[in-house]
Amino acid sequence: MEKTIVDRSLLNSIDEIIERYNCDKHNLLTILQESQGLIPEHYIPEVVAKHIGIRLNMPISKVYDVITFFSALNDRPKGKHVIQLCKSSVCRLNKYQSLRDILERELLIKMGETTEDGSFTLEYSACFGACDVSPAFRIDDKVYGNLTEGKIIEIINDYRGISHG
Ligand code: FES
Repeated sequence: MEKTIVDRSLLNSIDEIIERYNCDKHNLLTILQESQGLIPEHYIPEVVAKHIGIRLNMPISKVYDVITFFSALNDRPKGKHVIQLCKSSVCRLNKYQSLRDILERELLIKMGETTEDGSFTLEYSACFGACDVSPAFRIDDKVYGNLTEGKIIEIINDYRGISHG
């Protein structure tokens, strides 16, 4: 997968965020979230974590404590599309594992991994309110339920078309 290039202009944009929050370490979480939003692969590269630590005058280990604690923050690049499979109660009752097996087989990765070409990341999620069409997953912000194997493959192929287009 391509690595994020952290250049001066990205660091300048991050500096603007830090300054908007008065270089105050109490705003670390928000600063990290907004910084991650500038990075297409949705994660905080190490050089960015270090830069933020220096600017807020705090050790990088503390910055990583926050990155690893909050699930919305990532220390590794994510795929272009994130597939979140629900494993909360209703989806568990309706055997979310069957969807997991199909997704893992189709994408050739395991849960928590990202495809070699950086197109998809597969991860678990808590209930996102699609219990009536359970078991369900969502890709980015779009929810899919009432699924068959054929339908899942069709959906994935649609995204493959988009991501390669
Ligand atoms: S329990 Fe899975 S969407 Fe609600």
